[in-house]
Amino acid sequence: MAKTKSFYICSECGYKTIKWQGKCDSCGEWGTFEEEIEVPLLSTKINSNNLNSNSKSKVVSFSNIQIEKNFRYKTTISEFDRLLGGGLVKGEVVLLTGNPGIGKSTLLLQTAKEYSIYGEVLYVSGEESPAQIKSRGERLGITSDNIYLMSETDIQSIYEYVLTKKPKIVIVDSIQTLYNSAIDSIPGTPTQIRECTLKIVELAKKNEVSFFIVGHITKDGKVAGPKMLEHMVDAVFQFEGEEGLFYRILRSEKNRFGSTNELAVFSMEDNGIQEVKNSSEFFLSEREEKNIGSMVVPVLEGTKVFLLEIQTLLTDCVMGIPKRIVQGFDRNRIQILIAIAEKRMKLSLGMKDFFINIPGGLSIKDPAADLGALISLVSLYKNVAISQKIAAVGELGLRGEIRKVFFIEKRLRELEKLGFKGVYVPEANRKEIEKNSYKMKIIYLKNLEEFLERISKDE
Ligand SMILES: Nc1ncnc2c1ncn2[C@@H]1O[C@H](COP(=O)(O)OP(=O)(O)OP(=O)(O)O)[C@@H](O)[C@H]1O
Ligand SMILES: [Mg+2]
Repeated sequence: MAKTKSFYICSECGYKTIKWQGKCDSCGEWGTFEEEIEVPLLSTKINSNNLNSNSKSKVVSFSNIQIEKNFRYKTTISEFDRLLGGGLVKGEVVLLTGNPGIGKSTLLLQTAKEYSIYGEVLYVSGEESPAQIKSRGERLGITSDNIYLMSETDIQSIYEYVLTKKPKIVIVDSIQTLYNSAIDSIPGTPTQIRECTLKIVELAKKNEVSFFIVGHITKDGKVAGPKMLEHMVDAVFQFEGEEGLFYRILRSEKNRFGSTNELAVFSMEDNGIQEVKNSSEFFLSEREEKNIGSMVVPVLEGTKVFLLEIQTLLTDCVMGIPKRIVQGFDRNRIQILIAIAEKRMKLSLGMKDFFINIPGGLSIKDPAADLGALISLVSLYKNVAISQKIAAVGELGLRGEIRKVFFIEKRLRELEKLGFKGVYVPEANRKEIEKNSYKMKIIYLKNLEEFLERISKDE
């Protein structure tokens, strides 16, 4: 075996050192150094005498490249296809990550069945035996002669199999179990993960075989292995879920063939993972006619609108500094909204504990939810019940002005679809809104003062 040298590399910023160190000199992060093995290149010098010999890499003229227009492997799980950007592209490499036991293997086995109508699907597992996979498959009702199971961890054997049998789709469960025997380090180390992924990407691109790779995550929710891993693949999907809850969220963190930050909701049933098509209905169940301290907001996740309920609670602060308990919202954003409420709406919150929560476990990043959060707070403070058939959308400025939001039509259409009767919107969106007609009452607001004047009239 060729002689190898080891060094340490920061998984955050890629800074290299010869000795291990606790803190990275470059990015200042602690405990991010991992050992890497330097892989010697077979030939480091370019021999000019060989320049005219047959080059291995194929160079093709842009105009001569033939592609099957718009071909995508589709499944009957439309939400999964949507996240992929309309289906799986030939030669695409998708990395699926998520906490242990979240359902990665289950989801991929279900998709294996779906893709098997196109040809052979190879399921490589370094974690479970073929018998274990088969018994899971039987529970999910999977029968197909086109699914092949391989219990293997040596990337070379997988490479050879794929080259000879040319399956259409390969599922690798998981990248952390694979190893390349040419490299002197154990499976799961950054070097092995990088080398095995490189091999997979090469196989996928040269042979138009699509791959799903399962990747474990670290305790802080990052993909285990080198940061580079996410750059090497075409798409990164994260499978999330709250412990004890039956639903799961699949999020596209990166996608070269579709839009990113898309989100799809699935539920975990006895017979496997089922898609939740009408996710807004799903998050809005169990609500009363009128409520104090709650408001529905249409937020954008990727290109899809989700209706989420913001719930707030205020209690008297018994002692010390008032608590700000924030779940499903950006903490800093909430601090700003509280400051706006105190300054612009004259609410006195200095001696109140404040709690805000989004039921369902989703997290809101869209600033268009600002107005909803504040209305919910005002309704609580003034003890005014708000009809649950009224929603709110708008971003807040520090002067208390309600700012324009993007994709207003999409948001209003989703509200209309779910039977909302009215919606507070920014005055700045009026022109755009008036181009269409809606069955709901549209209430335009310039600023928070206007809202305070209206609140008693509307309710
Ligand atoms: N017979 C069964 N009936 C119902 N649910 C089951 C059964 N077997 C497993 N499950 C559930 O399916 C879920 C998903 O398991 P799965 O193995 O797909 O997760 P995973 O993300 O691949 O986990 P890991 O990271 O450990 O490989 C588990 O939470 C488990 O509780
Ligand atoms: Mg698994």
